[in-house]
Amino acid sequence: MSVIKSTIPALDGCQDSALLNDWHVIGFVEDVAPGALLPVTLLGRDLVAWRESNGAIHVWEDLCIHRGSRLSKGCVRNDRVICPYHGWNYDGSGQCVLIPAAPSEPPMKKAKALIHHAQERYGFIWTCIGTPAQDIPVFPEWEDPSFKKVSCGPYPFRSGYRAVENFIDPSHFPFVHAGVNGITDNPDPIAAYDVSESETGLASTEVRVTQPYGDPREVPVIAYYAYQIFRPLVAYFKKRVVISDPTRATEGNDADRFCTYLTAQIVDEVTSIVRISCAMNFATPPSDADVRRRQDLVYAQDSEIVDTQRPERIPVDLRQELHHRSDLMGLKYRSWLNAQGVTYGVY
Ligand code: FES
Ligand SMILES: [Fe+2]
Repeated sequence: MSVIKSTIPALDGCQDSALLNDWHVIGFVEDVAPGALLPVTLLGRDLVAWRESNGAIHVWEDLCIHRGSRLSKGCVRNDRVICPYHGWNYDGSGQCVLIPAAPSEPPMKKAKALIHHAQERYGFIWTCIGTPAQDIPVFPEWEDPSFKKVSCGPYPFRSGYRAVENFIDPSHFPFVHAGVNGITDNPDPIAAYDVSESETGLASTEVRVTQPYGDPREVPVIAYYAYQIFRPLVAYFKKRVVISDPTRATEGNDADRFCTYLTAQIVDEVTSIVRISCAMNFATPPSDADVRRRQDLVYAQDSEIVDTQRPERIPVDLRQELHHRSDLMGLKYRSWLNAQGVTYGVY
């Protein structure tokens, strides 16, 4: 059974408690300046994000309780959202504190914006439009100062689940990322690997691949990917990188890692926005621009293929499509989505 807050008026979008009660990224922290209103769509629902002058972030239904107009078309003044229609003023708690048509009367208690849970973490703005069933998944390197972090994106994709599955799929590298993450004429055989399930989701053992331009240092590497799926739309890998060009081997060491924390904002069943944060601990870290240049290239190559996949809604019934042992992580992802009760955007 879905658990939906009684204050949510739109009952026609996603009804999956696994998604409604989860945290979702809807932007980067810098996307919402104090005083600005940012309209966003999540799970088919129109929301508005805004920030008070003290930095507090808010995510509300993009709807005025009075006559249903879009708050995002209004403005923020003195830390109040002002509805564009009749000018009702809402403070940071969502309470209506002024009805301009009756300025001397205190507004009714019920005159309240439809507010959602909101917080900022790892450079992202997160919201939960239901009741959070768990915390935001941990980004293991975030607190570790030896890792440089770089946010990249947004990257538009069609299906968010297809985008996540692509992220944990090593066998497409030689074909989709020729000359970058793999070699078309000499694709790596993918050795058998294992996937385990725990309370934090799914985790693979390392998968070894050859990468001619394996990380932003522009060095060829042998890479060992350990993938994790934390939530239906949050995934991660930790990549152990070993420089394979002997003339440049001294640039790296055994501790070198390149990690990516990936989030997909499900706009609707077949529209999503991927945002990532990369973490790396190289002795000479690449510039933010170098990291972004490489990620922009790779994710553009990915979306060009992923957006052609049919059906757009990912099949979670394993009798659909054909699975090979090298797809183990994707296969486990699909059955795990199904076990979580995810029906929105799947097939
Ligand atoms: S609809 Fe918002 S003030 Fe009337
Ligand atoms: Fe890819």
